[in-house]
Amino acid sequence: MPSQAVEVRIESAAEIAEELRAELERWTDEVFGQIAYQWAPSQWYATARIDGNLVGSLTLVAREAAAAAERVRVGGVGNVVTKPAYRRRGVALAMMLAAEGVMRARLDAEFGLLICRRAVAPVYEKAGWVRVAGPTRFWQPAGITTYPEETLILQLTAREWPGGSIDLCGLPW
Ligand SMILES: CC(C)(COP(=O)(O)OP(=O)(O)OC[C@H]1O[C@@H](n2cnc3c(N)ncnc32)[C@H](O)[C@@H]1OP(=O)(O)O)[C@@H](O)C(=O)NCCC(=O)NCCS
Repeated sequence: MPSQAVEVRIESAAEIAEELRAELERWTDEVFGQIAYQWAPSQWYATARIDGNLVGSLTLVAREAAAAAERVRVGGVGNVVTKPAYRRRGVALAMMLAAEGVMRARLDAEFGLLICRRAVAPVYEKAGWVRVAGPTRFWQPAGITTYPEETLILQLTAREWPGGSIDLCGLPW
């Protein structure tokens, strides 16, 4: 089957239609609802369509985090999901490239930063992201929590990643 073009649109939380935002949140809840973390509110939503059908989405936040006790301006990617029938056709990759464009052009981010399950880290590596050792910590209602799986970053400027332990300085995304 010839591969169909993936169209990606990115809208801020203020711009996105309320119905679409509610649909994305229901969908994200179905896929990630069993993960027992409290998450940061999304500031941007990327949606992917093939032939006008909604097939994937991800969210973005802008955050000042810390690595090796240095402040780092990051664009945080989360809630990456492609509908099962559309997987392995480059939908996630197209959304990650669009997210990178927004991080550069609108968020003034020095790095992209995301946390993910070990099994899906290759998706982000394919988009140029690299694993960092961390450990990565973030705020939760019960106290500071260490993430047990992978953290990946994307260098967006000449600044090198400081390395060392990472503090998301708030809720995770
Ligand atoms: C993970 C997920 C978003 C990938 O979406 P996708 O649109 O199928 O990904 P792409 O087609 O853009 O894949 C790009 C590359 O990533 C890698 N990849 C894709 N899915 C993968 C998976 N499940 N495990 C490991 N590597 C994967 C492949 O190298 C792929 O390139 P290839 O098909 O040329 O080999 C999708 O499987 C999904 O929604 N899973 C459930 C939710 C989830 O786990 N999200 C991640 C949260 S951290």
